[in-house]
Amino acid sequence: MTAAALLETNLDLPRHQGKVRDTYDLGDGRLLIVATDRVSALDVVLPTGIPRKGEVLARLSAWWFNRIKEVIPNHFLSLVEASNAHELPVEVPPELYGRSMVVRKADRIDVECIARGYLAGSAWKEYRDTGQIGGLPLGEGLRESEKLPETLFTPTNKAEEGHDEPMRYSELEALVGDDAANILKLRTLAIYTYAHTVAAERGIIIADTKLEFGRVGEEIILIDEALTPDSSRFWPVKGYEPGRPQASYDKQPIRDWLASSGWTEGTPPPEIPDEIVAATSERYREVYSLLTGEALPE
Ligand SMILES: Nc1ncnc2c1ncn2[C@@H]1O[C@H](COP(=O)(O)OP(=O)(O)OP(=O)(O)O)[C@@H](O)[C@H]1O
Ligand SMILES: [Mg+2]
Repeated sequence: MTAAALLETNLDLPRHQGKVRDTYDLGDGRLLIVATDRVSALDVVLPTGIPRKGEVLARLSAWWFNRIKEVIPNHFLSLVEASNAHELPVEVPPELYGRSMVVRKADRIDVECIARGYLAGSAWKEYRDTGQIGGLPLGEGLRESEKLPETLFTPTNKAEEGHDEPMRYSELEALVGDDAANILKLRTLAIYTYAHTVAAERGIIIADTKLEFGRVGEEIILIDEALTPDSSRFWPVKGYEPGRPQASYDKQPIRDWLASSGWTEGTPPPEIPDEIVAATSERYREVYSLLTGEALPE
């Protein structure tokens, strides 16, 4: 039997609810970020959760943060588990172990820093329609899912509501300053390039990824989640073939089911059937074990 999905958390601290994560301010320069099992698709949170998804997001992020910390400073301090929960200034119930991260609180830079190594999603649509990506012209004749001649940095703003809009590099410079824009670009590309190499050895293509950064004093650090199926497109190397969309290790089963369910955007989203939930949960766990080489801890 699969465990029930965790949709809500209620610690004894002021809470900020994002679409997927609940964030608590520990009041000492640190945040506690709890990844729930909520799932969003097409910018709405669905009424059904995906069991263990939050653990995959938190544990996989922690795994990557530990690997890149020597090169790129990031917010990660610890993953809350039975062994260290007592060190926190708030009582954390055991069902939140393995899905809660203690991080340095940052002043978020309101930009989604996207690196793209392959032509997919909105970039593919833009290229197909205009021959450009993020306003930059690209050579002719590229196919859907094809590896790009070079990795692209395509930042977007973080819209309060609705879809995030692409930003030109000059707009990014105007928003954050020239030096910070350069740091965001270089760090985003470096993290993507490193992660792409690591994942490829383990049979996964990271087609693209979204990163967030924030300021702590003078320092610009990587925040939020990193290189998870919610923030990245993961494709199996096996079966990869440009010229068509790829099967991906994420909430694709949910998107496909939603598309075929007759649901229209703008109306309350429907409950997801059990078999779709189980298939999605399985994919999240599979990507975790493929990347880390270990099964998700029980
Ligand atoms: N170290 C940090 N300091 C400050 N804010 C952070 C930090 N790490 C992550 N965040 C923010 O915490 C929130 C995590 O929640 P979640 O990702 O579920 O939100 P969301 O619905 O995607 O909203 P958003 O559009 O703001 O990302 C995000 O707003 C993220 O930007
Ligand atoms: Mg987010």
